[in-house]
Amino acid sequence: MVLKIYLTITSALIYGINATSFPPVVENQNISKFAYCQAGYPNASSYKPMDDSTLLFVQTISRHGDRAPSNYALNDTTVWDICPHKQYRYAYANTKPGIQGGVKIEAYTDDSDQAANMAGLYWQGNCYTGQLSRKGVSQLETYGSELRKIYVDKMKLLDKELEDNTIKVRHTGVPRVQESAEGLVAGLYPFGSGGNGTVHFTSFPPEKETMYFNPLMCPRVAQVKALMRATPEYQTYFNNSYSDALRLNKIVGYSPSVMANSSFIFYSFADIFSPIECNGKPKLCNEGTCITDDDVELTLKYTMFEYLYSRKLSPYANEYNRLAGGAFFSQLNAELSKQIDYDMLENCAEKTKNRPVRMSIYVGHDETILPMLAIFKTNNIENYIVPYAGNILIELWRNNIDKKYYIRALYNGQQILTLPDPTTNTSWCDLNKCDWDTYQKYLAQYIPANVYQECKLVQ
Ligand SMILES: *[C@@H]1O[C@H](CO)[C@@H](O)[C@H](O)[C@H]1NC(C)=O
Ligand SMILES: *[C@@H]1O[C@H](CO)[C@@H](O)[C@H](O)[C@H]1NC(C)=O
Ligand SMILES: *[C@@H]1O[C@H](CO)[C@@H](O)[C@H](O)[C@H]1NC(C)=O
Ligand SMILES: *[C@@H]1O[C@H](CO)[C@@H](O)[C@H](O)[C@H]1NC(C)=O
Ligand SMILES: *[C@@H]1O[C@H](CO)[C@@H](O)[C@H](O)[C@H]1NC(C)=O
Ligand SMILES: *[C@@H]1O[C@H](CO)[C@@H](O)[C@H](O)[C@H]1NC(C)=O
Ligand SMILES: *[C@@H]1O[C@H](CO)[C@@H](O)[C@H](O)[C@H]1NC(C)=O
Repeated sequence: MVLKIYLTITSALIYGINATSFPPVVENQNISKFAYCQAGYPNASSYKPMDDSTLLFVQTISRHGDRAPSNYALNDTTVWDICPHKQYRYAYANTKPGIQGGVKIEAYTDDSDQAANMAGLYWQGNCYTGQLSRKGVSQLETYGSELRKIYVDKMKLLDKELEDNTIKVRHTGVPRVQESAEGLVAGLYPFGSGGNGTVHFTSFPPEKETMYFNPLMCPRVAQVKALMRATPEYQTYFNNSYSDALRLNKIVGYSPSVMANSSFIFYSFADIFSPIECNGKPKLCNEGTCITDDDVELTLKYTMFEYLYSRKLSPYANEYNRLAGGAFFSQLNAELSKQIDYDMLENCAEKTKNRPVRMSIYVGHDETILPMLAIFKTNNIENYIVPYAGNILIELWRNNIDKKYYIRALYNGQQILTLPDPTTNTSWCDLNKCDWDTYQKYLAQYIPANVYQECKLVQ
């Protein structure tokens, strides 16, 4: 599906905005609802190691899979029956050496049609809002199995059988994210693949979580977002799109708080329309008026604008990316740094004793991936809409000739192309092979030196 949208990548808007033509007019970007439903995977047959180099460590950062809408809207009459009857939960237990997966726990949501559940009164089906669907589980399992083909079978970075302390997992405290992480690990080390390792699943308390927009951790981000919404540019967009929002809401039935004038409003419509489209559910109708394909396209277009505005076009985008993005990068880079320190150890005994994990698995949200791509300065504005199971790989390599360390980053299995700086006409780095010093120095400008100070509310 080809869409003409109001955003351009060819104009001067890449680095700034011209308030006289807002929203900026741009053509020929393809946003496809189907692209949103399913991210591309890395592919073992096209995957190539970096020349003359040794792979040391990998970070994978992915979004959860397909899900039910996160927001409850009064007039959403969809039967949300896409969720596993049994929720998906595995626990890996080291019961007997050599036998993996001693325990498999299954929890489930009750989808029986009992009056006591008030089934169908407000919300129909077997999902709760934001629950991972069966398809969502299998998306992450597939991603995990592609990782296995690359990093186990091809690169031999990881063992065929799960060994202790070779991988670790961090996910946010949101159930769909934990279940996505479990799906990924089940794809990477499928039941019966052997070994006797334990996988450590970690999550941060919400008060310290850096993997999403988090006013609990960083009160200032909410303030920055409010400032963004108050700009004349954003208000123009809001006013121009408001009649469409009202029209759609007659069908969807969001509460006044979602529809408030300060919201990032089309993002909330996309939250319902995307699961409907991605799961082949009937479009919503109310009193003879139905959502159309054009409405779905419009919604994606405006959603992309809202993301692009907050992460790139707005005068507050830099601060926003620092506070909701840079803080996570700080943790990723600290981990890379430790891996390099370890690799440089000369003492054999210490090296055997302190061997760190070879893969760190992070599972989060679109708001985990998006700031990373924005900070990387991706040149593809379509990247500002992160599909279900969207994934970034960050690989750490040691060059066998110059002995230096290099980073390679991939998004949905593809190279990430970065925008050239307008004054020097060169890109900050080639993410297909970026030397560690350059990578680290560039990202340092986005990492809050003192998170506590920067995150305080400004009076
Ligand atoms: C959009 O999709 C069409 C048809 O698939 C393709 O020819 C065109 O190059 C795409 N445009 C961009 C900007 O990707
Ligand atoms: C990987 O690439 C090969 C060759 O291009 C293709 O045949 C295969 O379908 C791809 N696999 C996936 C999972 O996309
Ligand atoms: C299991 O653990 C032991 C040490 O506890 C280790 O020696 C062995 O290699 C591990 N792997 C398998 C497949 O048993
Ligand atoms: C948006 O609409 C409101 C209410 O109609 C109006 O007060 C405001 O000036 C408009 N803003 C812009 C930037 O057009
Ligand atoms: C909300 O914004 C719309 C569009 O600008 C405007 O027409 C309406 O009066 C505003 N409502 C409130 C309560 O400010
Ligand atoms: C929901 O639908 C009812 C009629 O079915 C309609 O009267 C109402 O306006 C809709 N809700 C909203 C918030 O638009
Ligand atoms: C930047 O590089 C491109 C491609 O090499 C070239 O076409 C363009 O003229 C250059 N722009 C400037 C400002 O040097």
